[in-house]
Parts: sequence; C-alpha cells; structure tokens
Amino acid sequence: MNLEIQPLTNPQPGIEDENKLVFGKQFTDRMFVMEYDSGKGWHSARIQPYAPFTIDPAAMVLHYSQEIFEGLKAFRHADDSIAMFRPADNVARFNQSARRMCMPEVDEQFFLESILELIRLESRWVPRNEGTSLYIRPTMIATEAMLGVRPADQYLCYVILCPVGAYYKGGIAPVKIWISDHYVRAAEGGTGEAKTGGNYAASLYAAREAALKGYDQVLWLDAKEKRYVEEVGSMNMLFLYDGKIVTSPLQGTVLDGITRRSALSLLVEMGYKIEERALSVDEVMAGADNGRLQEAFGTGTAVVISPVGSFCYQDTCVQLGNGQPGELTMQLYNKLTGIQYGQQPDNHGWITKL
Ligand code: COI
Repeated sequence: MNLEIQPLTNPQPGIEDENKLVFGKQFTDRMFVMEYDSGKGWHSARIQPYAPFTIDPAAMVLHYSQEIFEGLKAFRHADDSIAMFRPADNVARFNQSARRMCMPEVDEQFFLESILELIRLESRWVPRNEGTSLYIRPTMIATEAMLGVRPADQYLCYVILCPVGAYYKGGIAPVKIWISDHYVRAAEGGTGEAKTGGNYAASLYAAREAALKGYDQVLWLDAKEKRYVEEVGSMNMLFLYDGKIVTSPLQGTVLDGITRRSALSLLVEMGYKIEERALSVDEVMAGADNGRLQEAFGTGTAVVISPVGSFCYQDTCVQLGNGQPGELTMQLYNKLTGIQYGQQPDNHGWITKL
C-alpha cells in the first residue's frame, strides 16, 4: 500500500510552554489515517492535516464500542535525535487487540513505517524538557452505519500525537490507591487483556468514587473472589515483597504491559527474583503493616513508573515507606528512562531511532 503525504496548510505555532504540558490535551498538526472495507482490505493510507472526522450517527463504534487503541512514546535525546521505545511491540499488541475485538489486523511493517514517517514529519513537536515526550495514540474504530450486533464491515485506523509531560499532576510523587472491594474491571474470559475503550469506560464509575474520596487511582481485584490484586486502570502493579518482585500473572484479565515487560527484564538483571503469582489484598495490607511489603509501583507507557504511597481497603489505610518514592522504584525509573532518553546503553534492542 502507498502512503500519501498530504500538504499541511495551516500549522499551529507549536508547543507554547514545555513546562505546562498536560497529558493528552494538545495535538500536533498531522495524523495518519487509513480505511478498511471488507472485500477490499485496508486502503487510502495517508498522512493528512489533523482534523475532525465525519462519521455516521449509526457508526457501530458509537453503539457497540468496537474500538481498540495503543499508547507509545517518542523521546528526544541530548544530540537532538528522536527515539521510539519498543514500537514494534505496540503494533503487535494492536493486532492482538484487533483479533479479540473481531477487527481487521493491520500490516505491522507498513503501520510501523507509517508511524515513524508521521513522527519524522512532526518532529518539532517532540519536546526537550526532562520527563517530556511525544505520546502516540494509534486507534481503530468500526465506522459501518449499522445497528445489528456483529463485527463491522468498515473501519477507520488513525494515529494522533500529543506532546506530554508527567501523567500525574504530582510527577513522580507517590500516589494514593483505593482498592475496590465492590467494582471489578475484568473477568476471566472477558476483554481485560485487550486495549479496548470499553475497559476504560467500565473503570470510570469506581475511579470517580475514588477521586471524590481523595484517591488517585483504583486497584482492581479479581472478579471471581475479589481477593487478588490485578491492575490499576492505567498501569500494571509490581510489589517488592520479601525482597522479591511479585506481580499478577497474565491470564487474560490484565494488560500485557510493554513497560511491565521492560521493568521485569531490568529487575531480573538487577538480581531480583520475579514471582508472577496471585497476590491477595490481605497480603498487601498486612505486608505494608509488618514490613514484608517494602515498595509498590505501577508501570505503564503514560505513567512510566509510578510509586505507590498508600493503599486503602475497606476502612483501613496503610502507608508505604516515608512518603517518598522507594529506593528500588527510583532505581528502576532512572534505568528505564535512562534507556528511553539515550543516557544509558540500550542492551535490549528496545530503541528505534528515527
Ligand atoms: C498508556 O499507558 O499508554 C495507556 O494506555 C494508559 C492510558 C489509558 C492513559
């Protein structure tokens, strides 16, 4: 397939103030778009000016949420070059989500090349300040106008870009986590592992309740027993427990995070034993009290590494550490961001230079 590059007529001035970047608010001048019709496949791939879409009110995505997305980042290095972190892994996961949601797969090589070309064209939007990056959001939606419940025959796939600072307002400050004993995010056999909008929509009610009580995020328990910790909506959870790293196994309800994978590889190299096992909420609460749980942090593309300061469950809150990010959490954050920003060698082949 050919990639058409359309002219840009009305560029914006650019990033106004890199110190004031808000996650996901400002978008760059161009976007990648391609369309799918069954019988014809993907076609009309183009990089065009960023603009709203006109879609039919009956478009199936608007009714039955046939939608998937990805999140990845490009980083500015000191020599002014631009690097992407594990982009092929995100494209592969995009296709995994597509399969789960009965949507057409993309040609991974072509899609990746198109994303790289988009970032080349939009390179002035990759910020330079510490902790900033260009967030890349590949998305696919079902556009066929039809109210029957079945996989659509038409889709739109697009990629938009936004320069970002820290995901949480407090930067790398420890977050307060509420463990829900009532709401659940994903059940076995469901779509928890797919990066599909419905999983996030389903998390909002509990997230709003948590926010009203003063918490930053919700930690979900398994749907069956409401006993074992799974993930936080925008990140996987890792625990330093008895000197080992404990994280929930990938059994279909938890996202196979690319930052999670990277963190686990780095932690193994740092000498830590990894236990991918069910960790109960009782172990977390008691562990924080008796010191067996030393640190806890979330991993995700948007948050990178996010230290947990406290967990609250039912009527009890437990504090982790002294209100500062844990030592291992910071070591890992520095190692991972060091690789992403080109300050440390990339021994894993995770970096793709533009
Ligand atoms: C990411 O980390 O890229 C995510 O997809 C989380 C997002 C929902 C903000």
